[in-house]
Amino acid sequence: MKIKAISLINFRNYRKIDISIDSKINLLIGRNGQGKTNLLEAIWLCGYGKSYRTSNTKNLINFSNKGSELRIELNNLGFKNEIKVLIHENVKKIFLNDKRIKNRAELRKILSAVILDKDFKNNLEKSFKPRRIILDSVISNFSNGFNKKLKLYNKEIKRKNELLNSNGNNELLNFIDNRLIEYSYKVSTERKLWLSRITIFSEKILKKLNPEFKLELVFNSYCTNTKLLSEKFKLNSEKEKKAKRSLTGSHKDEISFLFNGSDIFEFGSEGEKKSVSMALKISEILLLKKINNAFPIILVDEIGSEFDEERFNFFFNFIKSLEAQSFITANNKNILEKTKNQQFGIFSIIDGDCKKIS
Ligand SMILES: Nc1ncnc2c1ncn2[C@@H]1O[C@H](COP(=O)(O)OP(=O)(O)OP(=O)(O)O)[C@@H](O)[C@H]1O
Ligand SMILES: [Mg+2]
Repeated sequence: MKIKAISLINFRNYRKIDISIDSKINLLIGRNGQGKTNLLEAIWLCGYGKSYRTSNTKNLINFSNKGSELRIELNNLGFKNEIKVLIHENVKKIFLNDKRIKNRAELRKILSAVILDKDFKNNLEKSFKPRRIILDSVISNFSNGFNKKLKLYNKEIKRKNELLNSNGNNELLNFIDNRLIEYSYKVSTERKLWLSRITIFSEKILKKLNPEFKLELVFNSYCTNTKLLSEKFKLNSEKEKKAKRSLTGSHKDEISFLFNGSDIFEFGSEGEKKSVSMALKISEILLLKKINNAFPIILVDEIGSEFDEERFNFFFNFIKSLEAQSFITANNKNILEKTKNQQFGIFSIIDGDCKKIS
């Protein structure tokens, strides 16, 4: 998939832009607060039907307006497609080739994207919960089935918590627990499977940086064993009534990665954590290519400033070597020096205006 053109009207700080894209690698250069991340968000929004930065649709519309329009033209293996998103106050309408789309999964076949930014690493290193949530969002990109199961699971957990909070009846609690046992097994088994695949890919990438590097997944969960899972639900039942919240199931899975034998997000240096996070993201790109038979669009937000020279060059060259189209933001001109004489599209972003400069 390749983006050929982007048009935005009243999206975030953009009033009206129309840009055509004819390069594989595109640099978006601009100082702080000019609209670089907003442009990446617009691309993402067209592929996923929602933003990765806000759940409040209204915030996407330019402050002085009530509506916004985004349009992206794509080339998918020789076929032309156009995705259009119309936003009015809190309502979003999405069109593919002028036909209204209700099922967002259809969009991903036309435009899927992977974002590389600081948030990924930040969430991985916080604690088990944000780590699980961010990795679940990666797995949901691979598997629509997983996404659906996870939504059903979360709905039941919410119902159970409400019931526990209001001292609800035991029969209904048992009914919900039986469902949760079934969903927990499915969610955790699929979660473990995808994470194992991601870890294998990531280790291969890290070994290119240094052949001595090793990466292992530690998946700490009783949910992949049906017997243990049922026992745990029985064992925790009284505790949960006292705590008035659910303490059992897939939302208690603990995910860690061992880098050369020790927990990377517990003991790793900044550079090591950045490299492992980057390798996990690149694995996402490579796995999406396998699944969809097409590379996703790669969106890189300010990642360059996070690495030393050697690692920056390694990851930059890796992204360059892929057949994927990428959009890379930078707020300093140094990146221009590094990329001199290359066939890149370079765009200057100033105060919500975007102009191609080479
Ligand atoms: N709905 C909106 N309407 C108008 N302006 C907005 C809206 N939402 C965000 N902005 C503004 O858009 C500007 C650009 O934001 P963006 O995150 O794209 O900056 P950036 O170029 O990525 O900067 P940085 O280098 O600091 O990351 C910000 O000043 C922000 O306040
Ligand atoms: Mg930004």
